Amino acid sequence: MVRILGYALLCGTRSEWFCSRLSKELGVELIPLESKKFPDGESYVRIAGDVEGKDVVLAHSLSFPQNDSIWELLITMEALVDSGVNIVALYLPYLAYSRQDRAFLPGEPISVKALLQILSFMGAKALVTIDIHKEYSLKYFRGIAYNLIPVDPMAEKISERVSDPLIVAPDVGAFQRASAIAEKIGTDFIQLSKKRDLKTGEVAISSEGFDVSGRNVVIVDDIISTGGTVAKAASMLRDAGAKEVYVAVSHALMAGDAQKKLKEAGVASVFAANTLPPLSGVEYYDVTGIAAEKIREILG
Ligand code: R5P
Repeated sequence: MVRILGYALLCGTRSEWFCSRLSKELGVELIPLESKKFPDGESYVRIAGDVEGKDVVLAHSLSFPQNDSIWELLITMEALVDSGVNIVALYLPYLAYSRQDRAFLPGEPISVKALLQILSFMGAKALVTIDIHKEYSLKYFRGIAYNLIPVDPMAEKISERVSDPLIVAPDVGAFQRASAIAEKIGTDFIQLSKKRDLKTGEVAISSEGFDVSGRNVVIVDDIISTGGTVAKAASMLRDAGAKEVYVAVSHALMAGDAQKKLKEAGVASVFAANTLPPLSGVEYYDVTGIAAEKIREILG
């Protein structure tokens, strides 16, 4: 444990599940935050500890309901900056809106750009996040930004749980992550091809004649949102003769009936990083340690 004097950690709303671990890893005091909702639905936060003269690491989950989480992050930042505090690092394990990284249809916003620009404006000097959908989006943040791909902890989890795995990237975007995981484990990998209808969100996946029969396959991706991508890939792999189908992701958002879809598609287990509040039916691997290591580096 490293003790850094003059620093404090503040954890935002909906962030309790990783906060005490992060505080221990960083060896810094955890400043309490009070929060509530007003009867009209507006959010309230109050820094309930002494932050005067300290540099603060602010950790915040941008989990569901994302818009409330983002707003509560912004007013927490406002309270800190107004108290004369320097926000030396912002740790956002899951960066909401990162999949809207360009205007796919005319007239659409680059939502991640809006978010990162506001965070810079609000006074965050450095940003640490886990597996942002597209790393190039970090150019919209004006300070220094780090994207941590949890290759080691994900590979460790897969090796612990699956014997002789075949790693599968469900689309071209997942190729690099999947190849890094396969290399770390010392096994083989394949890449499927995916097309999504930009209006309906409907996904079509095809394998180009890979032989998966009798193999334990692990679909590796950045995120499960509605579960459509992974469920389609899992059904196709099962039909192609895969023995067991597992899924390993960085973020298990599990919107709507995603868990049901995965079960129906024959997914044996889902492994995810602890970047979002824990859900039953998901096996988590820890990324707080790698985040703390990067934050310590920022703090010097
Ligand atoms: C897409 O490019 C991403 O890597 C994920 O495959 C996708 O966003 C997952 O979304 P869903 O679970 O809704 O299919």
